[in-house]
This record gives sequence, C-alpha cells and structure tokens, in this order.
Amino acid sequence: MTDDLLALKTETDAALAAAGDLRAWDAVRVAVLGRSGSLTGLLKELGKVAPEERRARGAALNELKEALTAAIDARRASLEEAALEARLASERLDVTLPPRLAPTGLIHPISRTMEEMAAIFGAMGFAIAEGPDIEDDWRNFGALNIPAHHPARQDMDTFYVPGIDADGRQRVLRTHTSPVQVRTMLNQAPPIRVIVPGRTYRADHDATHSPMFHQVEGLVIDRGITLGHLKGCLIDFLRAFFGITTLPVRFRSSYFPFTEPSMEVDIGWNRKTGELGGGGDWLEILGSGMVHPKVLANCGIDPREWQGFAFGMGIERVTMLKHGIPDLRPFYESDIRWLRHYGFSALAPAMLHEGV
Ligand code: DAH
Repeated sequence: MTDDLLALKTETDAALAAAGDLRAWDAVRVAVLGRSGSLTGLLKELGKVAPEERRARGAALNELKEALTAAIDARRASLEEAALEARLASERLDVTLPPRLAPTGLIHPISRTMEEMAAIFGAMGFAIAEGPDIEDDWRNFGALNIPAHHPARQDMDTFYVPGIDADGRQRVLRTHTSPVQVRTMLNQAPPIRVIVPGRTYRADHDATHSPMFHQVEGLVIDRGITLGHLKGCLIDFLRAFFGITTLPVRFRSSYFPFTEPSMEVDIGWNRKTGELGGGGDWLEILGSGMVHPKVLANCGIDPREWQGFAFGMGIERVTMLKHGIPDLRPFYESDIRWLRHYGFSALAPAMLHEGV
C-alpha cells in the first residue's frame, strides 16, 4: 500500500476509535465510503492513473476498501454491543427486593360490622335484602300495623319528604329498616330468611343520636316458627358477634306494633367497667318478636299457614360496644385519625365464627 492509502487507513482507524456512538460512527462511514467519501474519490481517480500502475493501484485500493469496510463494521458491532450493555444496566430490576406497599384505605367500623353480620347470618342461611332510603308511609308505618296518629309515628321523629308518590302515599325517609320486611314479603313467597342492613333517619340530633344512622333488620318466615327459633337464633348471633361464647342473653317482654309477642333483648355486662359478659348488669341491645298476624296479612301471607319472627338493632350501638368506641359523632366526621385508630385493614380476613 502506498503512503496515501496507509495514511487514509490510519486516519480512518483513529476516527472510528474516536466515534463514541452510532451517529458519530455513521459520519465516519459516510466520510470514507459515501458517494463523496475519501475512498470513493480515490476509486474514481483510478481511471486517471497511468496504465502501467493502474493494476497495482487497483489491487491496493481494493485491499484498502476491504480493510476499511471490515473496520467500520467491527466498530458498529462494538458500539451496538456497548449500547445494549448500557441499556441492560440501566433497566436492571432486582426481583428480590421487598415490594413497596402502596397506602391503602381502611374499612369503616360500620361497614365492618355489616360485613360481620352478613358472615354470621349468612352461615345460618340468611340472604341480604335491601330497600330504598326514601319510603312511603304505608310501608314504613301502615303495613307494619302502625296506624296514623299512633304514638310510634311521633316517637320516631319522622323526616317527611315533600310531595305524594304515584300511589297517593306520603313519602318519608325511612325511620327504620322494618319497611324492607314489607317489601320482601310482597316480593317473594315464603319461606323467607333475610337480613337488611341499611341507613335510617330520624329528626334527632345530640351526643348519642344522629339524624342518619344504621340498622340491621332480620326476618324469618316459615311454617311452624316459634319463639324458640327466635331465641336460639339471636343468642347464637350475639355470642358470635361479640366473640363471647358464654355471653348472658335475656329476653324481656316489650311492645312493638308489628310483633306479638314482642321482646327486647339484653346482654350481660359490667356497668362500672363497660366490659361485656359477666358483671351482673344488663344492657338493652335489640328489639324482636313474632311477626304480627296483621303484618303478614297486610303483605299477602296467610298467618294461619306461615309464622315468623323479626328483629332490629342499631349498628352504631353494637359497634361502639364491641370495640369500646365512646362517642357516636366521629362515625360520620371522616377524620382520618379516628379511622386509623378504629378502622380495619381490608386484608384482614373476616372473622370466622366456629364452635359458637
Ligand atoms: N323497628 C324497630 C325500631 O326501629 C326495631 C325492631 C323491633 C325491629 C322489633 C323489629 C322488631 O323487626 O321485631 O326501633
């Protein structure tokens, strides 16, 4: 190879070595092999070389072209490999690192209690029924044997909703979940076994009453249902819910227009310490009774063939008792500090009530 060709080889090698990326590499390639590249120019000039030198010059140029092409290709391969290495290094993923836990919300104690009730009654074969918050006064009162001017209508401090519905009935915010008893009996033939968790409303607001609160209703209709079924069902439920297998439960005769006989249910506790179970004191916890024959008849069920029992209780109240929550008002304040303290992890399994 002549000096000028050697010089071009040396110069190109240096330029390739200096090319740090594919863009710089391509500039070198074009400058040497491109249409107006240095080697291309030398090849074009071959025709001007004296015939006796042309053969040797042509062979040398070919040799140089092969060498340069090989060097350029090799540089490209090494640059590509380096780029891949860099990318793999930057995208490296350590699959052995522990996961970063995303912050998750907590289950509100009201929701938690409803879930627990659904689990306990669900295991006893109850389904869940629901009804609207805006009811008519027939389902909320009349069908339940609470006639107009009955004191219970005043006792319940009803919120009336303006206007009359299509059936000519006054609309109300339901004062209890009992109207869903009526809806269920009108919509489905017995046997019936449902619980009804939901919101209820009364015009009452102080430290222990909220205008909106929650109840759960229960309704069982079948042939041959007796007070014994009511007692067994509620004793089992209360012991499972409070997690105390020996929880004392007392049935005390009472009055509700929609049940006959009616009973209020008390659980044993210690008034001084607030501890549930022993202690010799009694705490009223729910209302219950055998569904009044008039209520069955109002809902199209023949009371000579079908009997049943019903019960209703306040969800806030049992939640406060179970978890030692002293004040009702924070339930609705959405204070994140209160929720962190009393809320439940969504990942904690629903409690299982075995052997109760
Ligand atoms: N509805 C009643 C209330 O809100 C509670 C109640 C008592 C419901 C007795 C019942 C029952 O189903 O049988 O005070």
